[in-house]
Amino acid sequence: MSGRLEGKTALITGAARGIGFAFARAYAAEGARVAIADIDRDRARAAAAEIGDNAIAVEMDVTRQESIDRAVSETVERLGRIDILINNAALFTAAPIVEIGRGDYERVFSINVAGVLFTMQAVARHMIARGGGGKIINMASQAGRRGEPLVAVYCATKAAVISLTQSAGLDLIGHGINVNAIAPGVVDGEHWDGVDAFFAKYENKAPGQKKREVGEAVPFGRMGRADDLTGMAIFLATPDADYIVAQTYNVDGGNWMS
Ligand SMILES: NC(=O)c1ccc[n+]([C@@H]2O[C@H](COP(=O)([O-])OP(=O)(O)OC[C@H]3O[C@@H](n4cnc5c(N)ncnc54)[C@H](O)[C@@H]3O)[C@@H](O)[C@H]2O)c1
Repeated sequence: MSGRLEGKTALITGAARGIGFAFARAYAAEGARVAIADIDRDRARAAAAEIGDNAIAVEMDVTRQESIDRAVSETVERLGRIDILINNAALFTAAPIVEIGRGDYERVFSINVAGVLFTMQAVARHMIARGGGGKIINMASQAGRRGEPLVAVYCATKAAVISLTQSAGLDLIGHGINVNAIAPGVVDGEHWDGVDAFFAKYENKAPGQKKREVGEAVPFGRMGRADDLTGMAIFLATPDADYIVAQTYNVDGGNWMS
C-alpha cells in the first residue's frame, strides 16, 4: 500500500535517528510531508536530506517551551499545517534506587513527560484553532507497563506517557483529535546501545550481552527493528483509526499482553 498519508503533514520529535527517523521515512513514503524535529540539528538536516523533498529539518528541544513554540510555528509556516504529531523524543536512564540523582530524574522527566505534554498542548492548540481534528501518537514503552529494578525513572516516565495519552485522548476527542500511543518492546539501535552499557555497568555483563539476552527472550525470536513499528504508526494516523481513542498498543514481538 502507498499514498495512505497523501496530502498530510506530520511533526515528529526526536526523528533525526532511530525509530523517529524510521517513522519519518515511512510517512514520506506514504505521501506525507514531515518535519524532522530534533535537538541534534545537524543530524536532523542529514536525515531530512536523506528522505528528500518530503522532509524538512526543524531544530527543537522539547524541554524548552520557547523551543516547542518555535518548532510548531516553523512547521506550520513551512508545511502549511500539522495533521499528525508523533511525540517520539526521549532519553533512557538507569540506576539502582539508592543511586538515582535528582538532576538525572529531572532531566529525564523533563524530556519524556513534560516534553510530551507541552508539545501535545502546542500542537493541539494549532489543531483546534484550524479545525478538522488531527492525530497525535505518543511513544510509550513496555517499560511503562511494569517497573524494573534498575529502571525506576525511565519506567515511571513511560507509565506517565500512557496516562497522559488516556487523559489527553479523552479530552481532545471532542475536537476530533485522536490521541493514542505505541509501546515498543526492545528495539535495536543507538538507544539500546546505551541501555546495554547501563546493564553492563550495573549487572556486570559483557558489552552486548544484555542485548543478546533480551533479544532471545522476545517470543517473536529477536529484538525489534525500527521498521517493525512503522505499520502501527501509519495506521494510527489514518482515518481507519478514527474510532480509536486514548489507547496504548504494544508492538513488541509478544513481550507484553494488556
Ligand atoms: N529503542 C527501544 O528499544 C525502545 C523501546 C521502547 C520505547 N522506545 C521509545 O521510542 C522512542 C524512540 O526511541 P529510539 O530508540 O529511536 O531513541 P533514540 O535515542 O535512538 O532517539 C531519540 C532521539 O531524540 C532526540 N532527542 C533527545 N533529547 C531531545 C530533546 N530534548 N528534544 C528533541 N529531541 C531530543 C535525540 O537527538 C534522538 O535523535 C522513544 O520515546 C523511546 O523511549 C524505544
